[in-house]
Amino acid sequence: KTQIISICFFFLFYSIDKWKKRWVESKHQPDYGQFQLTAGKFYGDKERDKGLQTSEDAKFYALSTRFKPFSNENETLVVQFSVKHEQGIDCGGRYVKLFPATLKQEDMHSESEYYIMFGPDICGFGNNKVHVILYHQGKYHENNKTIKCRINKDTHLYTLVIRPNATYEVKIDNQQVAAGNLEDDWDFLPPKKIKDLYVRKPRKSDVRLQIEDPEDQKPENWEDFEYIPDPKAKKPDDWNEAMNGEWEEPLILNPKYKGQWKPWIIDNPSYQGEWIHPERDNPKYKPDPTICHYYNISVLGLNLWQVKSGSIFDNFLLTNDEEFAEEVGNNTWGTRKDPEKQWRELHEEMEKRKREEQAQRKREQEEEEDNDDFWRTEEKGNDRQMLEGDADGAFPGKNEEALADWKDEL
Ligand SMILES: *[C@@H]1O[C@H](CO)[C@@H](O)[C@H](O)[C@H]1NC(C)=O
Ligand SMILES: *[C@@H]1O[C@H](CO)[C@@H](O)[C@H](O)[C@H]1NC(C)=O
Ligand SMILES: *[C@@H]1O[C@H](CO)[C@@H](O)[C@H](O)[C@H]1NC(C)=O
Ligand SMILES: *[C@@H]1O[C@H](CO)[C@@H](O)[C@H](O)[C@H]1NC(C)=O
Ligand SMILES: *[C@@H]1O[C@H](CO)[C@@H](O)[C@H](O)[C@H]1NC(C)=O
Repeated sequence: KTQIISICFFFLFYSIDKWKKRWVESKHQPDYGQFQLTAGKFYGDKERDKGLQTSEDAKFYALSTRFKPFSNENETLVVQFSVKHEQGIDCGGRYVKLFPATLKQEDMHSESEYYIMFGPDICGFGNNKVHVILYHQGKYHENNKTIKCRINKDTHLYTLVIRPNATYEVKIDNQQVAAGNLEDDWDFLPPKKIKDLYVRKPRKSDVRLQIEDPEDQKPENWEDFEYIPDPKAKKPDDWNEAMNGEWEEPLILNPKYKGQWKPWIIDNPSYQGEWIHPERDNPKYKPDPTICHYYNISVLGLNLWQVKSGSIFDNFLLTNDEEFAEEVGNNTWGTRKDPEKQWRELHEEMEKRKREEQAQRKREQEEEEDNDDFWRTEEKGNDRQMLEGDADGAFPGKNEEALADWKDEL
């Protein structure tokens, strides 16, 4: 087994000094959004779960970190990171990019040439997918197989594996969500097979799936008149033919009426199926063993646009060892996911109650303002004191303390 090359970044996020030294902010635009180091509003461990959080709304971000160049020729490449969208559903990228060594980090921008763009991109409920955009011979190729991403507020682990035998795998939370051959799921190359234009569709081809049974005959005694002349009716004796015309029996419902006769429907014995155009080898297709061979991979960057900020990126890992990546995933995302989720649910519950309390208070204030003038001036003062007291000592504050205790026990 080849030696493990692994580049982990997450240990850098334990202290603000360390990450600032290793990450470079682009100056290409004067107003890129700022990242901050935080574990966010809910987490498994306040220190360990710190990551880079986008902190300004409606901004482009362009931050990157450089490492010793390596190539994935004849090697597996695993790109892994975790991201949490605390801010909820919105519009913006949550992906990472890998760049060649030639990238000027101070000038990185959305047109900077990259090798791989990988990760979720979310815009509302409908438009959410995992990008796997791969560079090949001057062009970017998007994954043709759509991969849905997770859109809840919890941290999720994203993993891309590209193997030397030109297969790939995408995992979310260490579960496979897509896998296959690079050639099949991206259009790097012209298709292997094309329609054979020398073969024409046969002029006559029976495409009827079912037909009426030609053998089926209408039985001789089939009654298909719904109304018949009444056999019991008799011509009245005083019928005046000159005045009333020829006498006819009145019509009655035919008791033997069986409905319209229809032949049986049977499967068409001469059905030939939809005609499929025969294919032949595409002369333009040539296998290319260099697909996704990247040289001097040397920079990992967060280059994205976000409408609502708050995404926290963490646990970046580049390695050639799939199992190691899975293990790192288990030890990072895997250990935080449950406490984080519990806390998120509690947090959401608290936010909801806070909102309800505020609404209640507003209603009460409005009611008081209807009181007469004398009492209003008196009560205004009391009111404010009570509000301040509330904010410190009442429900939300207390619960934060309870939460802190609860966290310590974990
Ligand atoms: C990769 O494998 C090919 C074929 O075995 C070999 O020619 C090439 O030198 C290898 N490249 C590296 C960087 O090991
Ligand atoms: C992949 O997507 C591109 C762009 O949408 C399309 O032109 C191409 O035909 C697709 N290729 C395959 C193999 O589906
Ligand atoms: C490619 O390599 C992987 C991992 O070594 C292996 O599991 C898979 O079967 C291989 N696929 C092909 C098509 O060779
Ligand atoms: C990788 O970078 C080195 C040093 O800059 C350079 O000599 C080499 O040509 C590069 N390799 C490729 C394949 O670009
Ligand atoms: C990661 O965790 C899963 C679920 O607990 C387990 O099945 C898997 O073997 C673990 N993988 C590694 C490499 O430790």
